[in-house]
Order: sequence, then structure tokens, then C-alpha cells
Amino acid sequence: MALRNILKEGDETLEKHCRPVTSFDRRLHDLLDDMAETMNDADGVGLAAPQVGVLRRAVVVLETNVDEEAGEEPYVIELVNPEVIEAAGEQEGPEGCLSVPGVYGWVKRPEHVRVRAQDRNGEFFELEGDGLTARAFCHEIAHLEGQLFLDVMDHVMSDEELEAYYEDENGDGDGA
Ligand code: NI
Repeated sequence: MALRNILKEGDETLEKHCRPVTSFDRRLHDLLDDMAETMNDADGVGLAAPQVGVLRRAVVVLETNVDEEAGEEPYVIELVNPEVIEAAGEQEGPEGCLSVPGVYGWVKRPEHVRVRAQDRNGEFFELEGDGLTARAFCHEIAHLEGQLFLDVMDHVMSDEELEAYYEDENGDGDGA
């Protein structure tokens, strides 16, 4: 495994539509391993392949809705060729991106989504995400269409607004 360079906003690669993954081979496995390592190293909760310069439909998301009192730890979900097949509810809050360091936008997302995807070996599966995980699924899948949160946010949040939000909500706006 190796850390990969995360492209930053302004790089044209981040604006491109990604092609489906068709080979579930060693190269894909290395990519997914490296993406997870790169996301964890950057303290992110999600990373999409185009952010490391690969225009293929693959993302990793950190599932943080775990029962830590029961000894569960956040774990990495790999989604290859993911699609949102159901969305319900609504949440609004700060959203960041590892490609846009230090900037948080006020973004509306569904509270709950159901995703259909393939695993690293090409097997199809469906998965649900709530709250921050639903937000991360939507954010990462948007990267595959060349979309950043900057394109869908209401506004960039000021430091004062962020501080007030975290005091009130104890929310989570980790970069993705
Ligand atoms: Ni992002």
C-alpha cells in the first residue's frame, strides 16, 4: 500500500466524468487499498478515485456510525460503480473535501440513502447509509460526475458560523 497524492480544486481531473470499472484485478485492489490508506492518513471520511487522478468509478467511505461502546471501530466501505438507488429525508450541514482543504460549505443532502455497487471482486451488493455516511456516499458519488461540494453548496461557511455550528450540534464535518 502507498499514499497517493490528493489532487486539489482547480485540477481539471476533478471536473471529469469517470468511466465504469470493468477489470476487477490487482490494479483495482491496489487502487482501493491506496485510497483507504490515503483517506485515513488525511483524516477524511471519504475519497473518490478521481481525487487521486484515476478517472474510474470507485470510492471509499469511512463508516463512522458504529457502536464504539461495544468495541466497534469505524471501518472502510469500498464502492465500485456505485449508484444511489433510494434517497429519503434531508439533512443540512457543513461539508468539506480533501481536495478543497480548509473550506466548508453548507450543503443539503438526503438523510438516508441506499446504494447499489460492486465490491472489489465484481460482486453486486446493496448498502444503506444514514447521516454522515449518507452525506459521504452522495459526496463521493458526485465526484465521479466531476462535481464538488462547491457546485451544490448554499454558501461557504465562515469561521464564526462553523464554530457556532459545532458548539450547538457537536456535528461532524470531516473532509471527504
Ligand atoms: Ni470530496
